[in-house]
Amino acid sequence: MSVPPRPVAAIVPAAGSGERLGAGVPKAMALLGGEPVLAHAVRGLVAEPRVGLVVLACPDGLEASMAAVAAEVAGGVPVVAVTGGATRAGSVRRALDVVPETFAVVLVHDAARCLVPMEVVAAVVDAVLDGASAVVPGLPVVDTIRAVDADGRSRTLDRATLRAVQTPQGFPAAVLRRAHGAGDPGATDDAGMVEALGLPVTLVPGHPRAFKVTTPLDLLLAEALVAGQED
Ligand code: C5P
Repeated sequence: MSVPPRPVAAIVPAAGSGERLGAGVPKAMALLGGEPVLAHAVRGLVAEPRVGLVVLACPDGLEASMAAVAAEVAGGVPVVAVTGGATRAGSVRRALDVVPETFAVVLVHDAARCLVPMEVVAAVVDAVLDGASAVVPGLPVVDTIRAVDADGRSRTLDRATLRAVQTPQGFPAAVLRRAHGAGDPGATDDAGMVEALGLPVTLVPGHPRAFKVTTPLDLLLAEALVAGQED
């Protein structure tokens, strides 16, 4: 089997409704600096020269329009769009199904983390190619966090031991396929599914710009950052 010169396939789960953003359109199609959030996310991924395929998981009916948005900024990197699932994990699984076996590395990157800097993407790819079974960018937590039990009792966690996890997360393609085949229903991200297989997860430094656009306040911050870039 020939190894592609660009061995990385990037999956973009973008099938969420974006209700918390309240933009009236799925979050990935909400406008940021005059362009859909999705366009920013795809541009950030293909800035990494080892990315050779982008697979979008889209809300039903938006596959063609989202593929067109992505293709416009993909700089010639092929774009494929599939219909997403009912959950984020379901959307990733459907996208993974169309990634050819020739891609050795798979990134999974939320469309909503649309301003991730290139160095974060590169660090994730590097760590996977160095042999990691799962790689996540993480940032120290600035808030004090309390864990709440079923009875409503809470206790403070040691913040120094916590990291807030971002995307892109990176995996050897075979490991991610195994993890999704096993289908841990409790996992909230792909690295958690790999962890459920008993494999280690490697942390690389995340970046404040890789925050997830979830609420109108996040969109305001993203608008300011994009406007600043254009100066
Ligand atoms: O809802 P949340 O912000 O955690 O979603 C994270 C990412 O997963 C978003 O980019 C969203 O579009 C995507 N997603 C998906 N399919 C779903 C739910 C969420 O692709 N069913």
